Parts: sequence; structure tokens; C-alpha cells
Amino acid sequence: MKSIVKKTILAVKPYVPGKPIEEVKRELRLRDVIKLASNENPYSPSPKVLKAITQASKELNRYPDGDCHYLRKALAGKLNVSGKQLIFGNGSDELIVLAVRAFAGKGDEVVIAKPSFLIYSIVSAIAGAKVKAVPLKDFRYDLDAMKKAVTRKTKIIFLGNPDNPSGMYFTEKEIRSFLKGLRRNILVFIDEAYYEYVNARDYVDSLKLLRSYKNVIVTRTFSKMYGLAGLRIGYGIANAQLIDLLNRIREPFNVNSLAQVAAMVVLKDRAYYRGLAKKVNVQRKYLHESFKKLNLDFVASRTNFILVKTNDHSGNVAKKLLKKGIIVRDMSVWGLRRFIRVTIGSAQENKRLIKTLKEIL
Ligand SMILES: Cc1ncc(COP(=O)(O)O)c(C=O)c1O
Repeated sequence: MKSIVKKTILAVKPYVPGKPIEEVKRELRLRDVIKLASNENPYSPSPKVLKAITQASKELNRYPDGDCHYLRKALAGKLNVSGKQLIFGNGSDELIVLAVRAFAGKGDEVVIAKPSFLIYSIVSAIAGAKVKAVPLKDFRYDLDAMKKAVTRKTKIIFLGNPDNPSGMYFTEKEIRSFLKGLRRNILVFIDEAYYEYVNARDYVDSLKLLRSYKNVIVTRTFSKMYGLAGLRIGYGIANAQLIDLLNRIREPFNVNSLAQVAAMVVLKDRAYYRGLAKKVNVQRKYLHESFKKLNLDFVASRTNFILVKTNDHSGNVAKKLLKKGIIVRDMSVWGLRRFIRVTIGSAQENKRLIKTLKEIL
């Protein structure tokens, strides 16, 4: 089949996800394994969410509502935008796929940061577009250099805010200056998967940008703070015309019915998620302080994960942790050979991580 597959596919390096807990248990014959590798929420969804999806599961014989009608109405009200400005995806990942499918192909260029979320480059490469990856400066986006990387052929610029794996965000002032003078026929894709974690005054209110920029799309997800990673649901907000273009290439039933129900409950269950946000803040502080005590450099994070510099090759450190039942991300795949990325887990999980790091380093 290799002889007939599209040439662009042969050059693609597949995305390697974090290992699932069960697989590690089986492979290493461990009983107690924790996963701090995929920036997931360590807590299960709220009791109200669990109750609602149990109820809704009785109707799994039906196709889901392809329009996400009720969720659209609820989210539009919450964000104070029109329902026509929203698109839902099978995770926010799918919106990256749709954007590339709609705007970039052979002969086009896509500008991203390096390192940044791997899906931007994988999906663009699959489409046959050339990926121009602009190195981070001190683990922050070098927006000036990214603007300079734009050519006549540029179709999409992916901006993770905050991005993964750095965990860093750019400010309102920085993005406004970036957009000023940029061609308006380039799609500026602002990925806010970690939006709910950023607690900073100068973080951009990106919905305001949408009023002036019809070429900007902002995406968010229910996977992270809202703990619905397994159900796969994310959304994009943009000008109605741009949303209409993406909707044309979306599969009709891309968001499953349980995800729709769960997301509706999440939007109402504010107290539960406010509690979770507080826990993450406390634990982030604990980990930052513990890394300092261990003399480990790290990138101070605004998200639910932290990039940590290890004295050894990241692969060795990740392997040693794995043997002790802790799954973290070996960042050598991103070209960061002395870094691991750890997700902020529960208090108990983080304590175990620090204790184990002390033992193995
Ligand atoms: C920066 C970034 N964007 C998007 C996603 C995708 O999230 P999901 O497809 O679960 O909504 C992730 C997941 O790790 C991410 O780190």
C-alpha cells in the first residue's frame, strides 16, 4: 500500500500519546500506577455530570444532535456570543484538523512555535503544507520572529495560549501588536485549551479580538479543567462566516451525545470547578517549591502541567519514574532532551512524584 498512499503521509511521524495506566500496570506488573503525562484532570467529573450521563446513556441507540442545539444555546449565552459563532469538535483537536483541512494544503505554509503542541505540525504535514517552526525565546513565544516568518504563502498561524509544553502565555498587548499589520487573509488560530487555568491580569480577553478580527478563531476544551477528556469535546469561537466554512467540512455527528450532556452540566456546575481550580493553584505552588528545593530548573507554569529540567537524559528519568509506577512525559520527542513534563496531579500524587524524584535523582 505504500506505493499508493499520499506522499505527505509517508513523511508524517505519528503522535505518540502518554501510556495508559492499565498498559503500564500490565507491562511492569505494578499495582499502583499514577499518570502525570497527558495534562488530564486528576479528579473525576462532578457527581452531577456522572448522574446526567448515566441518565442520557439510555438513549445511546440514537445518533447525537449534530447541531449540539442545547449546548450551543447554553454556551452562547455564557460567552455572550451568537450561536452561529460557535463550532463544536470531537475534542478541540478536531478543530485544528478542520482548520487545516479548510485552509492549508500543498504549496501553503503554516507558522507555529517550536516546540509547541505537536498536533499543529502533524496535521499540517498530513495536508502537505510546509510547517515553519519558530523557536521559543526563553520558553516564550517570539511573536516578532513568528510575524517575520510569514510569507505570501502563509495560510494559518497557530498560537497556543498558554501553549503546551512550555505552559507560558502571551499577553493582550503582545497579541494586539502581533495582529496589527498582519495580512487579514491568514487564519490566526488561538488555542486556549488551558484558558481556565490562567490567572493573570494581562492575559488576553480573546473574545474581544473577534470583534475586530474576522480571521481569528479561538478554541477551548472541556478536556482539561472540566475533566471530560475521555468524552472528547471542545469548541471554537469565531466570526459566523468563518464558522460556516468550518462547519461545511465537519462530520455530521462529530460530537457524541454523552459529551453534549456532560458539557451542559459543567457549564452550570460552577462551584465544583471553582473548587478544582483552587486545588490546582495550591498544587502548582507545592510543585514549584518542591522543584526549587530539589535544585531542578522548571518553567513557571500557568497551566496544569510543568516543564522540568532534569540533570540526566529525560528518557532515563522518565524510565526510572515509570519503574516506580509514575508516568510522566519524556520531552525528547519535542527535542527537549533534558526535560520531562509533569501534569499537576492530586496532592497525594504530587507528593509521591517529589518523593520518588528525590530517590532517583
Ligand atoms: C495546547 C493544546 N491544545 C489542544 C489540546 C487538545 O485537547 P482536546 O482535543 O482534548 O480538546 C491539547 C491537549 O493536550 C493541548 O495541549
